[in-house]
Amino acid sequence: ADALKVGIAGLGTVGASLVRIIQTRANELATTCGRAIEITAVTARDRSRDRGIDISGIAWFDTPEKMANEADIDVFVELIGGASGAAADSVKAALTRGLHVVTANKALLAASGVELAKIAEEKSVLLNFEAAVAGGIPVIKALRESLTGNTVSRVYGIMNGTCNYILTRMEKEGLSFADCLKEAQRLGYAEADPAFDIEGNDTAHKLAILTTLAFGTQIAADEIYLEGISNISIEDIHAAADLGYRIKLLGVAQLTDSGIEQRVHPTMVPHDSVIAQVDGVTNAVAIESDILGELLMVGPGAGGNATASAVLGDIADIAKSSPGAQRVPVLGTPAASLAPYKRAR
Ligand code: HSE
Repeated sequence: ADALKVGIAGLGTVGASLVRIIQTRANELATTCGRAIEITAVTARDRSRDRGIDISGIAWFDTPEKMANEADIDVFVELIGGASGAAADSVKAALTRGLHVVTANKALLAASGVELAKIAEEKSVLLNFEAAVAGGIPVIKALRESLTGNTVSRVYGIMNGTCNYILTRMEKEGLSFADCLKEAQRLGYAEADPAFDIEGNDTAHKLAILTTLAFGTQIAADEIYLEGISNISIEDIHAAADLGYRIKLLGVAQLTDSGIEQRVHPTMVPHDSVIAQVDGVTNAVAIESDILGELLMVGPGAGGNATASAVLGDIADIAKSSPGAQRVPVLGTPAASLAPYKRAR
């Protein structure tokens, strides 16, 4: 089959990581996906900025909308962010045009996920968004695929890397809230407007998406009880520690007698619980369901590579399921191309 042609909208931390990974691992990707993956179009706000990547051979588009409408691509990857504006308009245009879409945009999905899903279903294209929730943790796959047939009773966890990074460094190193936030921004973890992180909105967006997948209800981010971490002081953290607790910003969605409850707020968790041990930018998502029981997934929740890893997995799924691609290899790599095993000495 021809290469799967990918257009990337947004070349910030995640977009630049994704370009680098696809370019440097082209051969491995072609083998494991049954089809080569080629970036044929890009768009970003500033063309000349040095991102440490080579985009000279790739078609440049001045706006995401133009790329969505005109580029020679099979997949539109949206890494712009924001619930409205260019991200929303271009994703809608791409789906309407019949392109597959991969997005990391939780704010957009929280606001318009149902509408976008309808367009994708009508056009029989894929809308993949693993990177939108908990960075590199495959929680969307878990809910949408692995837990098929299960009835979920509760989903909860640490879903914002920036907040967990701030709380961890305040506690362990006594740094100020402001300094920790600055560092999280420098490392590429925070949202363009970090108020979304520290006021809990970002966690709420992610939780709303998980609630929909877990319970089959429409996305209702506005209904979430919301309290961020901006009022948490070092004294609060120490007081909690004296009582045997650590403070974590949790998102919780659960079935109650009176309906589905969704909330986001700083929570005291017993220091010997698994979730209390989750430090720094790491996220953790727990899913309780009737057939499987409790599943807990822990892993990198933000940052260029963690997020790009999930985006790439979504692109690979499209490549593998596209007409002309080889069947998904039973052992990950086609059996005939597996390298001989060499025992470590
Ligand atoms: N700002 C987000 C976070 C990025 O810190 O978790 C990943 O969604």
